[in-house]
Amino acid sequence: MVATSQTTGEGWSSRSAFILAAVGAAVGLGNIWRFPTLAGESGGGAFVIFYIGCVFLLGLPLVLSEIFVGRVGQTDAVGSIRKVAVQSGASPSWSIFGGIGAIAAFLIVSFYSVVAGWVLYYAGVMGWDFLQAIMSGDPFRGALAGESQEQIQQRLGDMFASPGLLLAMHFAFMGLTFYIVARGVSSGIEKAATYLMPAFFVLLLGLVIYGAIEGDIGDAVAFLFTPDWSKLTPQVMNSALGQALFSLSLGVAGLITYGSYIKENSGLGATSAMIAFADTGVAILAGLMIFPIVFAVGLDPAAGPTLVFQTLPFAFQTMPGGALFGFLFFILILVAAVTSSISLLEVPTAWGIGERGWSRPKSSAIFGGGAFLIGIACLLGYNVWADVRPLGFWSLFENTDILDTVDGFTGKVMLPLGALFTSLFVGWKADASLLRTTTGLSPAMFGLWRFLIAWLCPLAVTIILVTGLFPSILGA
Ligand code: PFF
Repeated sequence: MVATSQTTGEGWSSRSAFILAAVGAAVGLGNIWRFPTLAGESGGGAFVIFYIGCVFLLGLPLVLSEIFVGRVGQTDAVGSIRKVAVQSGASPSWSIFGGIGAIAAFLIVSFYSVVAGWVLYYAGVMGWDFLQAIMSGDPFRGALAGESQEQIQQRLGDMFASPGLLLAMHFAFMGLTFYIVARGVSSGIEKAATYLMPAFFVLLLGLVIYGAIEGDIGDAVAFLFTPDWSKLTPQVMNSALGQALFSLSLGVAGLITYGSYIKENSGLGATSAMIAFADTGVAILAGLMIFPIVFAVGLDPAAGPTLVFQTLPFAFQTMPGGALFGFLFFILILVAAVTSSISLLEVPTAWGIGERGWSRPKSSAIFGGGAFLIGIACLLGYNVWADVRPLGFWSLFENTDILDTVDGFTGKVMLPLGALFTSLFVGWKADASLLRTTTGLSPAMFGLWRFLIAWLCPLAVTIILVTGLFPSILGA
């Protein structure tokens, strides 16, 4: 391949704009839906502590590595890796992993939009309920007044059984994602992040305070921070490692792409640390928001993926102000999901612009449209195609529906592969003085980073990859 990639010429208007956009990319459904679900299922404290270790020893060095590649490359992920490779005297073929990342981001956004569509529907239901509460003169009543627990739970099943409803929500969410990405880096993505992220933090703090006042914060803190090390099985460690990658948006070239819009070298190490801290802080705050509410009503923290859609709406019913805060809760998840989905769609979009010379509207329409179509297959897997098993020939995905197959394949195969290539490339191939001058780390931090990225990351990620693909190794 020849080095023909053109720079897109776009950029962040300031360092803080980049940080907001990158934190927006990292903070998403992974923090507010998946992290509490996994922590709940895995017994709390030991999982949380191990997870934090993964973020700082493994995730943070990878965040800095991706940003480094983008910062030097100044174009889409494939072109950026190629440029760093050429400048470092390495083979330009390393750029293939940027392509794998772009495909992974494209596949992830297809089902991410479907799940965000569920959230959109629940935001609508709760918003309508809150409106009725206002009309009835009792705006601070609990949510979904008059519905039985069965009726509340049934809503999820009814939604899954309705392809039209799922499609409409998926369409609306993907349409919004496309609209923002098509407008460009500064007038679309950056603008969305600068409005939405402050709103997100206000909502999050408001809901944590609400949970602390109305819920059982003591039990939640004990649950999240008291480690029972016997619960830290190899499977739990594996899911914590995988979750750290997903939550920090690693392995899909997302931070390479966002990093390519940085115009000056200013404290890339500190910036990366801020992203990792903010993402982890939000995941823990999400736990501190959700579990007090779950425990206040004596519900099961280990409900799994339905925690947010069945357990919480019921909990909001029994709490004063539940109609209002239930509505705000789903708006909060929606905001987090939008700032992540735009970063996912941006990866293949930037590839189309940089490598194919397409215009931004064309590139985002092609990939947004394609992801929309794959998402339709995912949502049909909940009803008319419920028996379809796309990778049914593979024992790992034997009983896995369409959405979970796309999720599982990207999460278990593509994401760890992307992270493995990143760590090998930056740890062993990238020119040391280029690394040093671009990151501006102190000699001690630089040495630590090089050690973690060259040795610990490849080893840990290989373990995730192998044990993820062959769970029998862990005795599962
Ligand atoms: N980090 C996002 C989340 O936790 O929901 C998901 C994600 C976004 C993954 C962007 C990858 C990415 F490039």
